[in-house]
Amino acid sequence: LVVVIDFGGQYNQLVARRVRECNVYCEIYSYKTDLNKIKAMNPKGIILTGGPASCYEPGAATCSEDLFHLGVPVLGLCYGAQLMTHVLGGKVERAAVREYGKTEVKVDRSSKLFSDVSENTICWMSHFDYISKLAPGFRAVATTANCPVAAAECVERGLYAIQFHPEVLHTVEGSKMLYNFVRNICGCCGDWKMDSFVEESIKAIREKVGNGKVLCALSGGVDSSVAAVLLSKAVGEQLTCVFVDHGLLRKNEGDEVEAVFGPNGNYDLHFIRVNAQERFYSKLAGVSEPEHKRKIIGEEFIRVFEEEAKKIGAVDFLVQGTIYPDVVESGLGGESAVIKSHHNVGGLPDYVDFKEIIEPLRNLFKDEVRKVGLELGIPEHLVFRQPFPGPGLGIRIIGEVTAEKVKIVQDADAIYREEIANAGLDREINQYFAALTNMRSVGVMGDERTYDYAIALRAVKTIDFMTAESAQIPYEVLQKVTSRIINEVSHVNRVMYDITSKPPGTIEFE
Ligand code: XMP
Repeated sequence: LVVVIDFGGQYNQLVARRVRECNVYCEIYSYKTDLNKIKAMNPKGIILTGGPASCYEPGAATCSEDLFHLGVPVLGLCYGAQLMTHVLGGKVERAAVREYGKTEVKVDRSSKLFSDVSENTICWMSHFDYISKLAPGFRAVATTANCPVAAAECVERGLYAIQFHPEVLHTVEGSKMLYNFVRNICGCCGDWKMDSFVEESIKAIREKVGNGKVLCALSGGVDSSVAAVLLSKAVGEQLTCVFVDHGLLRKNEGDEVEAVFGPNGNYDLHFIRVNAQERFYSKLAGVSEPEHKRKIIGEEFIRVFEEEAKKIGAVDFLVQGTIYPDVVESGLGGESAVIKSHHNVGGLPDYVDFKEIIEPLRNLFKDEVRKVGLELGIPEHLVFRQPFPGPGLGIRIIGEVTAEKVKIVQDADAIYREEIANAGLDREINQYFAALTNMRSVGVMGDERTYDYAIALRAVKTIDFMTAESAQIPYEVLQKVTSRIINEVSHVNRVMYDITSKPPGTIEFE
């Protein structure tokens, strides 16, 4: 285990991901975490991340000097490097110029940190403060034109400091440097792999569950699908999956989920599909305000799930598809306490009679969840499914939701997705969908006047879904999608393409 101590910098989850790419398991903890707790984890290495503050300012995030006396190698990155220097008696000051962007760094290749790294290498810098005096016992092992200490080390004590960001891909040989630290300096053997994850999880789940009964709310999304399959491999028919079809899924999606998980599917589990379309449509009748729609859908989902759970009776465990970014973002893991405003439908149902929660994916990043999914043999169309909001098409139909409008948006969206896949763009664009605007306009079809709806197409590229850019879909693809939608979907006579980025727009329309 490598512990990543989070000082609030923007690349902190990246640090953890890069470490795991070296097949070394790591977890992120806030800098406020008690040192004894960290000691008790018996880590093989510790990484201090970047952060927004100046370490010499009163009240800045800090750490105890004892951290450096645990006998465990420590690597400080950016703020972490400055903090290490500051705490151990060196000096950190505000620089005359901010160093930002790709910067050529000259490294001392005799340092273990830089073995196999080119002598002059491009690194990503982003700092105001700099190390103006090394802490006693340290030597500088990298420099730039503006920065006398771009990296430093005290080999005897296993302490390393890097001013730039090896975790960012712009640092061309950054992964190698992190590999050097975790594998060569810390001596981690690199046995954290997805197949071992699957094996170990199945074993751990079996031990935990014993003969108990397990209940899982399956949405067909990546996380809940992978969690369900993992559970099914571990405890087979002790698992019941409830899939609520709220009538706001994409075209044929309910049947696709049933085909994979249902009685004719590939897995050993009890599958219950609840066709609750009519219930949802009648609750949504006459409602057009987005948050109100969300609330109705969320609450109704809980009611439906609750009714099914009651039929099943008491269970021992409830499965949640929580993944690591959810843990970190909800403030439980790291320091970046961004609370998500979007809650997945079916959040934590406190009304179901269960004893304990199982979160088998709690420590994984999304790409790792996908790897596990492939490892488990889940079909690729499920593993690489793009994100789909819990309230589904309910928030892609602007204004009131009706069964007729659901059909329109489903048909238009299916055409759009098909053409994006035909153009080979489906893995490149992170989220894309059709929405039904509430606008009707005049058109002409054949010799007749039409007065019909306008479909809006959206496609975005994003890493974290917090910000996004509109994807540049080739014009011919857009033209083809448009003509197919107009010709094949009744009640649509116009198609528009939304090129707003987020901010100021959001990804969804509501
Ligand atoms: P926005 O529209 O806020 O969306 O830019 C960011 C990401 O979140 C998804 N989204 C939701 N997911 N419940 C969810 O589970 C919701 O109410 C919800 N609203 C938006 C959206 O699809 C995008 O991936």
